[in-house]
Amino acid sequence: MTDKTVALAADHAGYELKQSLAEELVSLGYRLVDLGTNGPESVDYPDYGKAMADALTAKRAPRGVIVCGTGIGISIAANRNPSVRAALCHDSTTARLARQHNDANVLAIGARVTGLETAKDMLRAFLDTPFEGGRHGRRVEKLGAP
Ligand code: RB5
Repeated sequence: MTDKTVALAADHAGYELKQSLAEELVSLGYRLVDLGTNGPESVDYPDYGKAMADALTAKRAPRGVIVCGTGIGISIAANRNPSVRAALCHDSTTARLARQHNDANVLAIGARVTGLETAKDMLRAFLDTPFEGGRHGRRVEKLGAP
């Protein structure tokens, strides 16, 4: 993908991991759109899932990374917008397949269930893997994505 912009959003449980992934992204040459949260104070994950969906819809970034404690709540929230295909992944294999088969445009990670090195591996797999298209294209179209 030519646009090297990645949007990031997290709740308080995902805040620290979001910061670490932001550093990793900068070191890999990506430009960031940081949608918060920006501290450890308790916030509500639906607000940050929606912020990610709104940012992608507004074309502020072509893809994003969202983080909460498990990755579940924030991915449910983001996926309420049909422009979003957020995939909750747990390792580089699921992150790679989320791109190859599902054309995921958002990587969701659970900070309380994922180590930093695994999260970085997932991030690289998510960013570097193209969509396979073909039969998967038909299926993704059926999801109603634009
Ligand atoms: C916050 O405590 C936690 O519930 C949230 O980060 C997330 O795991 C919800 O799915």
